Amino acid sequence: MNMVDLSGDAEILHYITTDDPAEAESLYAAAREVREEHYGQDVYFRGLIEFTNYCKNDCYYCGIRRSNSNAERYHLSMEQILYCCQMGDMLGYRSFVLQGGEDPWFTDDRITEMVEAIRREYPEHAITLSIGERKRESYERFFQAGANRYLLRHETANDEHYGKLHPAVMSLAERKDCLFALRDIGYQVGAGFMVGTPYQTPECLLEDLRFLEKLDPHMVGIGPFIPQAATPFGACPGGTLEQTLRMLALTRLLLPKTLLPATTALGTIDPRGRELGLMAGANVVMPNLSPKAVRKLYALYDNKICTGDEAAECRFCMEGRIRDYGFVPDMGRGDSRVEIGVPASV
Ligand code: 5AD
Ligand code: FES
Repeated sequence: MNMVDLSGDAEILHYITTDDPAEAESLYAAAREVREEHYGQDVYFRGLIEFTNYCKNDCYYCGIRRSNSNAERYHLSMEQILYCCQMGDMLGYRSFVLQGGEDPWFTDDRITEMVEAIRREYPEHAITLSIGERKRESYERFFQAGANRYLLRHETANDEHYGKLHPAVMSLAERKDCLFALRDIGYQVGAGFMVGTPYQTPECLLEDLRFLEKLDPHMVGIGPFIPQAATPFGACPGGTLEQTLRMLALTRLLLPKTLLPATTALGTIDPRGRELGLMAGANVVMPNLSPKAVRKLYALYDNKICTGDEAAECRFCMEGRIRDYGFVPDMGRGDSRVEIGVPASV
């Protein structure tokens, strides 16, 4: 067993910031071992459908923020969404992620209708929503309609830092309430954060890890911050590969059973980013199923990869990359080993 001491805040902070390659490597090795213990060499595939880039929010880091008048807006019709699912199903996916901005056109009625339509066609598939903050009653309706999972990154667990990344109308307290409500309703919940956002300190990252321990989410989405030119943070430096890999490994070690995606953002800052993410404890990939015509428009950050590829290309490209590193693609639902519905510890 690798000797990585994470017994206290000081020890964790040490690994958050270490620039010693040997130490980082021992962290990744320990994370790999823990991942293997719970999930073996399997890497779960989720098909990502980016169904709307309209957003009423104005997060300072995000390319589809309301104030970005350069962004060309789209939303997919129900038929287009169902077509993406059909493509995905044919390619072997058993798990769909419906992601979008906070788009008021997609009322609770429309989201419910969408979930019901997908559920009718695919009774056994996992249906994941990633559509931001809504009322508890809305989350309950979507759950009744057949949604099983919900991704909502907390972005940063430090109140002051949250205030520097978002306009004053948004609050970390509200974000946390949503996450605990989702977990309580019985969703498999994904939280997560960006690495290297402006004003982030090592202490902020420690708070992220401590918050995650309390929430005990089924999945944790972690990717580097990547500047998007048309946003207020367009000229800020982005997060690095090493920083992000360390946070992935630390998350694996502190939340051994959680699902950890090797994100598209990580693949964007380094050609081998996703593979190295898997080597640092990640065990999920989320290839794109969105129609090729709209992919470039879902530009949360600059230079996003895979925007010129068809769904089938990403599916098989990812499979090849995974096998090259000795991992085994798993197209099943890929449920989290974290228990469902059990109240979080606070
Ligand atoms: N760089 C990296 N990730 C970003 N996201 C939004 N904007 C950026 C950016 N500029 C992430 C957020 C959000 C997820 C869907 O994408 O963490 O929750
Ligand atoms: Fe999209 Fe490789 S994953 S082309």
